[in-house]
Amino acid sequence: MSIKPARGRALDTGVIGIGPDDLPPIGDAPRDTRFDIRQWWPEDRRALPFELEIGSGKGTFLVQQATDTPHINYLGIEYAGQFARYAADRLRRHGLDHVRMLAYDATVFVKWYCPDALFRQVHIYFPDPWPKTRHHKRRLIQAPLLRELHRVLVADGFVRIVTDHDDYFAWIEDHVAQVADVFERLPFERPTTAGDGEVVGTNFERKYRREGRPFNALSLKKKG
Ligand SMILES: C[S@@+](CC[C@H](N)C(=O)[O-])C[C@H]1O[C@@H](n2cnc3c(N)ncnc32)[C@H](O)[C@@H]1O
Repeated sequence: MSIKPARGRALDTGVIGIGPDDLPPIGDAPRDTRFDIRQWWPEDRRALPFELEIGSGKGTFLVQQATDTPHINYLGIEYAGQFARYAADRLRRHGLDHVRMLAYDATVFVKWYCPDALFRQVHIYFPDPWPKTRHHKRRLIQAPLLRELHRVLVADGFVRIVTDHDDYFAWIEDHVAQVADVFERLPFERPTTAGDGEVVGTNFERKYRREGRPFNALSLKKKG
């Protein structure tokens, strides 16, 4: 498996990087296309818990968290190929071969490829805010994605969301209210690797903290 570059040489990311060519073609309906993605991990790890990060950027959260919790299998999905390759190379250099980095659109991947009831947690930190009204439809967090995340979570699984953008947070709260039948909204719990005074400790958080921006965060617990 290797992430194919848009141009230039492919990074040797070992088993960590997965590119669009490693996915089967999309079928006629999601149920035809979904497959057991645990096959990306060695057999002796497939019974361990799985967690997903959407929009991993340069992979700081995954490097920190996967170092701290080697008993968890992580999948990071990053749309931008150059960031996905950067993150995969960083993970490889840290020897974190229990992480898989996928260069793909997470919305499509979750809907079309992810099997039911796999992830214990889904992390979404500092998603792009798309501030202009005409771009709001591009926002990642929308009720249909939250319903798909509900499907791919195990019982009592969590979605964790942090944003620096007040207007996007109001949008998120509105979409969270639309899925109140399947999720309980709870306060955000910081991951174990967040530094002093940090909410999570991603690259964007560190950059925005220097700019003095406030952060909003919430957790969603799968009901039923
Ligand atoms: C503002 S950055 C935050 C990166 C990182 N989470 C952090 O906090 O440093 C948002 C990232 O999400 C990625 N992204 C946006 N939409 C995505 C999608 N549909 N699937 C996967 N990644 C996506 C972008 O390419 C970008 O790298």
